[in-house]
Amino acid sequence: MNELIYTDKAEDQFMKTFKYYKSNSSPPSLDEIINIDVNNRTDKVLLLSPNNLKIEDTRTKQLGLIEPKHWCLYSFRDHPGLFLIRNPFTSHGQRYWIEKCLKIYPRKPNKRNIDIETSVDDWWEACHLHGQCDKKLLKKLRWSTLGYHHNWDTKVYTEDNKSQFPEELSVLCDIVAGYLGYVNFKAEAAIVNYYHMNSTLSAHTDHSEVNLEAPLFSFSFGQSAIFLIGGTDKTTVPSAILLNSGDILVMSEAARLCYHAVPKILPSVSSPWNDDDGINDDWHSFEEYIKESRINMNVRQVLNETQCSL
Ligand code: OGA
Ligand code: MN
Repeated sequence: MNELIYTDKAEDQFMKTFKYYKSNSSPPSLDEIINIDVNNRTDKVLLLSPNNLKIEDTRTKQLGLIEPKHWCLYSFRDHPGLFLIRNPFTSHGQRYWIEKCLKIYPRKPNKRNIDIETSVDDWWEACHLHGQCDKKLLKKLRWSTLGYHHNWDTKVYTEDNKSQFPEELSVLCDIVAGYLGYVNFKAEAAIVNYYHMNSTLSAHTDHSEVNLEAPLFSFSFGQSAIFLIGGTDKTTVPSAILLNSGDILVMSEAARLCYHAVPKILPSVSSPWNDDDGINDDWHSFEEYIKESRINMNVRQVLNETQCSL
């Protein structure tokens, strides 16, 4: 009996931190959160200097990225295999990806949480018919899956449940993977998550992929998030990392199968999607959305290198 109680307590560590940061009734202190920008945790974060940047990649500009030699790459002392690239996107690049996530990626045949209640092909268009904005429908979209569709019930990917993976997102991942020395990475599945200011994502590991050696790439846009990452079970106290618009988090090696969660969305202190003067009228509706939402593109390789199907 004592043992059981002890085990329960040990398992609570992740949940305890999750509840602490999630709470609205007693707002959490943000002091312990690792914030790359203010360099507040030099004991926990290391700035790396990758040495494989000799090759110029002409594709970066088209995808809204600044030159890789100017990227800032960080690692985390307590989380080997976890990397953060601090917003390598231009302002135009941020708008490009936000638009893709809102206008293109939620379109059929991609799968969406809203499929159980609506058959609209083009969610963004349906939200903006006749110059009006259907706020209710806008708030309903929580995820869209691309490539091999994540099956939320069985957690199993199958060959008969997949659609084409977007080429530009695949190239974006190639560039980021190459920068980190992963030259054989293939983007084959993605979950695009849509968060509102009160949304959370509970503790989980991503283990459905056949290939668990390949890294996972996570792109954040819009409002900020407190991201928790712990160990391979829930007994360790997780670290809290602030993710801002444009940040790329990479979960590889020992971090690939660690528990993680998003207990809170925080208002962003800046709006890097609006930092230049190249904005046109079309952008307005996207801006309205992103000023109170966060988008996360979570990209995985599914197959082993020797496999070409499941
Ligand atoms: C996921 C995930 C984290 C995030 O989609 O599996 O962990 O930052 N997302 O939204
Ligand atoms: Mn995840």
